[in-house]
Amino acid sequence: MSEQRQRDWEQRYHAGQTAWDRGAASPALEHWLDAGLVPRGRVLVPGCGHGHEVAELVRAGCHITAVDIAAQPVIRLTGQLTELGLHANVVQADLLHWQPAEPFDAVYEQTCLCALDPGHWAEYERCLRDWLLPGGRLLALFMQTGRAGGPPFDCPLPDMRALFDEVNWLWPTEPPLEVPHPNGLVEMGYALSRR
Ligand SMILES: C[S@@+](CC[C@H](N)C(=O)[O-])C[C@H]1O[C@@H](n2cnc3c(N)ncnc32)[C@H](O)[C@@H]1O
Repeated sequence: MSEQRQRDWEQRYHAGQTAWDRGAASPALEHWLDAGLVPRGRVLVPGCGHGHEVAELVRAGCHITAVDIAAQPVIRLTGQLTELGLHANVVQADLLHWQPAEPFDAVYEQTCLCALDPGHWAEYERCLRDWLLPGGRLLALFMQTGRAGGPPFDCPLPDMRALFDEVNWLWPTEPPLEVPHPNGLVEMGYALSRR
């Protein structure tokens, strides 16, 4: 685990600088569940934060592994799931130095990419590919900030098309979900598949 990376995120949680946190599950999840796009198998939630989507995914019948670099959200999410009588595998780890025991049927990628320095995006895309089974689904919410710097780093759609290239990823033909965030930013949602 990069100690500096961990310290930075830990510090944001301790300072309450969590503008990304909706306080509830994203409407994108409900949409994808209703559309039958979430496989009821092994699902990874990278950069889960407080993980409002995790309980919903467990209730929907998914077997969840949720990962975050910071201890605070991991401890809080673990406690909340216990109170709810739900089970998920909640892990504190740096995703750039983490390997699951088995691959996943799906990844629910809610603004973890935009939390990583773009210098690590190619490495992270490679990880996502390795973590998913062939044909596995990547439910991705790409943050649109329209400005330089971060986190959150802007994830322009042409850059996402280049990062998740057609050789390795199948893009949906349907238009993307446009998911406004209470913090004023917008996320664009796509259900990709790993080839
Ligand atoms: C923008 S927040 C999104 C949190 C959550 N998905 C949500 O939408 O509320 C990004 C999250 O990724 C975590 N994170 C950042 N870098 C990470 C890394 N290298 N490995 C694991 N988690 C990381 C942060 O601690 C933070 O909780």
